[in-house]
Amino acid sequence: MPKKETADSVQAHTEAKLQFYTKYLERYLQILLIAQGIDKINIYDLYCGAGQYSDGNTGSALRAVDAVWKAQVKNTQSKAINLHLNDLDQGKVTNLRGLLANKQSDEKKFAISFSTMEAFEFLKKLEPELPKQDRHTRNLLFIDPYGYKDINRQSLEAVLSSGRTEVVLFLPIEQMYRFRNKTMDDEVDNSYVPLKHFIEQFNLDVASITSEKDFITALETALSFGDQYYTASYSIRNHTGHHYGMFFITSNLLGLEKIIEVKWELDSQQGQGFTGDNQIDFFLETDRLSDLKEKIIKMVCTEEVDNRTMYEFVLKNGFRPKHANEVLRSLCDDGVIHTIDAKNMQRARKGSYKLNYQEFKSDKPAMIFRAGAGE
Ligand SMILES: C[S@@+](CC[C@H](N)C(=O)[O-])C[C@H]1O[C@@H](n2cnc3c(N)ncnc32)[C@H](O)[C@@H]1O
Repeated sequence: MPKKETADSVQAHTEAKLQFYTKYLERYLQILLIAQGIDKINIYDLYCGAGQYSDGNTGSALRAVDAVWKAQVKNTQSKAINLHLNDLDQGKVTNLRGLLANKQSDEKKFAISFSTMEAFEFLKKLEPELPKQDRHTRNLLFIDPYGYKDINRQSLEAVLSSGRTEVVLFLPIEQMYRFRNKTMDDEVDNSYVPLKHFIEQFNLDVASITSEKDFITALETALSFGDQYYTASYSIRNHTGHHYGMFFITSNLLGLEKIIEVKWELDSQQGQGFTGDNQIDFFLETDRLSDLKEKIIKMVCTEEVDNRTMYEFVLKNGFRPKHANEVLRSLCDDGVIHTIDAKNMQRARKGSYKLNYQEFKSDKPAMIFRAGAGE
């Protein structure tokens, strides 16, 4: 029997949320600390909590500090990292200050700052600062509220618009799903007003939503703000069978690749979500790969595709390049598609399909995928 949920203990679904955030943070830091042209990294945890739960488990703030310390080993260029911790509850922030008193390092250029503001008020203050930032700065925002009522679409769009900021957002879905029909009414009970407002802000077509997971998918699409950003979602099911959604928004395709790696690391069969057991079932992975195969066949049969477009397509559909390599190899072996070396327009040799970020950024394609077995 699962333990009763208490506000001060880390249940399995909370652990899944924290793992998603910290695993991404570790990858994010690993890349930025060696990337040319980046010299400052800001991490903002807007609902940071008290740091530690009474069952001894740590929350997002302490885990982020651990992730930074781990990453610092590779910080040979001494890039500046600032972790900003905010929570409306002053007591929690005071507690955190105590826990983290010795965790900063001038030598390592790791600073921790604190505030006790309403999170979206804090974002409003941050908004005008972001466009003024040096272009060598990157920001990661972790937004982990109790509900959706604080969420302000305009503020999210504003902080993303600099192109240097990524957002990890955690939202409970059950209530939105349960009350979705109420929001269709013009007149709603006061208790539904925040929900109605949330749904209206994101233009969610609630009439077509038939499950909590559908809601997560719809919200993932809405958070791309009309395809301006790459988004990913990860569903987390708690012991009562209800879902939370972990959402990720970025303008950087490498960021999307890293979050997809995290999704597949946490759910090795489907790369989609945490269900409480995530038992090994290889049929699920095979099903997912068949789905990718169908999508690739459809795309290549409709148009000629190069490796940069293929890389983006694969990631936008939630798969890793290694999945695509496996599928492409089998499609080539079966003569369903063939590849052309874009440098000499000759039949390409078997092997790598050049699906990576470096090739994506290149101004010329390396490989072309065509339908059929070729000559
Ligand atoms: C789900 S908990 C965050 C847990 C934390 N991320 C962790 O891993 O331990 C939400 C936190 O938001 C704080 N909070 C509630 N409303 C807030 C608001 N409007 N602005 C900022 N913080 C708020 C609460 O005090 C609480 O600590």
